Amino acid sequence: MYIVLLGPPGAGKGTQADRIAEATGLLHVSTGDMFREHVRNGTELGELARSYMDKGDLVPDEVTISMLKERISRDDAAQGAMFDGFPRNVVQAEALDAALAERGNKIDRALLISVPDEELVSRLSGRWMCRECGRLFHERFDPPSVAGKCDACGGELYQREDDKADVVRSRLEKQKPPEELIDHYRKAGVLHEIDGQKPIDEVTPLLLEALR
Ligand code: AP5
Repeated sequence: MYIVLLGPPGAGKGTQADRIAEATGLLHVSTGDMFREHVRNGTELGELARSYMDKGDLVPDEVTISMLKERISRDDAAQGAMFDGFPRNVVQAEALDAALAERGNKIDRALLISVPDEELVSRLSGRWMCRECGRLFHERFDPPSVAGKCDACGGELYQREDDKADVVRSRLEKQKPPEELIDHYRKAGVLHEIDGQKPIDEVTPLLLEALR
């Protein structure tokens, strides 16, 4: 099964993708995590990506698409994958469709997580992430047992550079899923809209239900 998770920054795509991966065994492919890893490793791609991420802009399509295509050409993506943060527009969606079609596959579900803007701002400004394993927390909605430490691996928690107030504003202006992208999946008959305003534990079963 191949699925895409759609939603604005802070909708809960990463949080829910981890839970879906745990429940279903599906491979979690996050283009945001891939870019952050390149930034951490100081690669050329990381330097380029950072110059866009720091401003709250999308990384250019040709760069993102070629990174994604390389990722799904690996053996561990042959049986299915869940795409988090990709696609962001119709150009990326069509590239994904074509890459999957080359292997006789297609997108089976597009899950759109909807959350109002005011809630997104408080989610992003309170988000903490593990430096070691990437586990997500929120200081109010999903706090770690010990402040600053990851429950899963004990790693140090940090706040993302692009969660600072001015970059958050820019991301929310520029990075909501465009209507044409939502339409792309609606026309394909695979779109499911999920109320992402509910608490984390209540959103997960709604998503799993949509996958059945
Ligand atoms: P990326 O990392 O994908 O960022 P994003 O799409 O902005 O999404 P976020 O990771 O901010 O939010 P999320 O929806 O995953 O929410 P989360 O689960 O963390 O991309 C980063 C950058 O990389 C982009 O800005 C762009 O520059 C570049 N990029 C990536 N993909 C690209 C592409 N395809 N093309 C071009 N450029 C690309 O949750 C947020 C917080 O809320 C957490 O603290 C969590 O604990 C909490 N929370 C989650 N759910 C709930 C809930 N139901 N109730 C209360 N709190 C909740």
